[in-house]
Parts: sequence; C-alpha cells; structure tokens
Amino acid sequence: MSFAVAIDGPAAAGKGTIAKAVAARFGLAHLDTGLLYRAVGARELEGQDPVEAALSLNPEELDESRLRTPEVAQAASRVASQPEVRAALVDFQRAFAARSGGAVLDGRDIGTVICPDAAVKLFVTASPATRARRRFLELSAKGHAVTEAEVLADVEARDARDSGRVAAPLLAAEDAVVLDTSEMSIEEALAAAVAVIEAALEGRG
Ligand code: DC
Repeated sequence: MSFAVAIDGPAAAGKGTIAKAVAARFGLAHLDTGLLYRAVGARELEGQDPVEAALSLNPEELDESRLRTPEVAQAASRVASQPEVRAALVDFQRAFAARSGGAVLDGRDIGTVICPDAAVKLFVTASPATRARRRFLELSAKGHAVTEAEVLADVEARDARDSGRVAAPLLAAEDAVVLDTSEMSIEEALAAAVAVIEAALEGRG
C-alpha cells in the first residue's frame, strides 16, 4: 500500500533537510519537487520554451549542483507561476507519490494539489530573516559571492511570487501540521517531523 508524506513550505525553511532525513529514516523514496521547476527554469534560461521543457524533462537533469544557484531559483519561481508548466509536471509527481514502498515529496503544493490524500502533511516554515540567514550560510559555504541582504531580498521576492500566484499558491493544507523552525535546531525540527510520521504509521496499524 502506498504511504505518501507531503512536506511543503517556503524557500529555506528546512523542508529539504527534513524530507531527506525522514525518507532515509523510514526507508521511503524522496523527490525534491523544487528540482523539477529548477530544471525547467534552467532550460528557460537557455532559451527553451518552459512548457516544452516541462514535458520533456528527464531524471538525469535533476543534477543538484547545477540547479542550486540564485539565478536558477528565480527562473524556477517564474516558470512555476505558469499553470501549463505545473500541469505538465503533475503526472510525474503523482506517480512518484504512489510508489509501493512509500514516498516523501517536498515542495509548495504537495499537500494541497499533488497529494491531497497524503498520509502525512507537514508545512515547514520559519521567519524570512531566519531563512535568509540559513540560505546565506549555505551559499557562502559553496563559494557563491552573495551578501545576506541580497539573499533576504531573493527570499522575499520568491515568497511574494510563490504565495501570490493564482496557480497553486504556497499555502498550508487545512489538515497539515505546521512546523515553525525559526527557533528550532535541525535535530528538534527533525524529531517533531518524525513524531508526526510515527503517529500516522501507528494509526494505520
Ligand atoms: O524549493 P526550491 O527553492 O528548490 O523551489 C524552486 C522554485 O520552484 C520555488 O520558487 C517555487 C517553485 N516550486 C513550486 O512552485 N512548486 C513546488 N512543488 C516546488 C517548487
């Protein structure tokens, strides 16, 4: 039987870290759906039509290092506001969520649009300042020349676009458990997520 865990939230709130860790802990497959939009954004930057790009993505393209740049993040956020791009990516995400061994998907609309029947829905969030600080440290460690103020502006611009768009805006599902990680360590956030998933697994007997 499939067991889907949906993890949504704004950029740099910690959902990727939590998603990877819970997938490893519970032996579930993991899909970072932001990489799909980033891959489409990267192809748009190369001049390709984003809908065509979304329809012809292949898994080898979801190469993290190439897609984790601020330019690609902005392009991803732009293409993600196009309903045709989102529609082109639905089947792939739903098929992944239905894997027999269970799956964790993280993104913006997993609990609301992609997997409204997910066994577990988490909405991981944190204040914009906290998220900008974390992303700044992450990018600096990788050698990207950015300032914290630039990263905060980038986080706020993406928040506004991701939350304000008409197509599948960033929004906690009504039945999602909200996890505000502003004042939490990674270990604390992870423990909270694990507790929610364990409760759901126990509930299934
Ligand atoms: O999580 P991320 O930063 O890698 O996501 C990149 C962009 O893709 C983000 O600005 C919003 C968009 N996105 C989306 O609209 N829906 C998703 N399920 C995942 C990401």
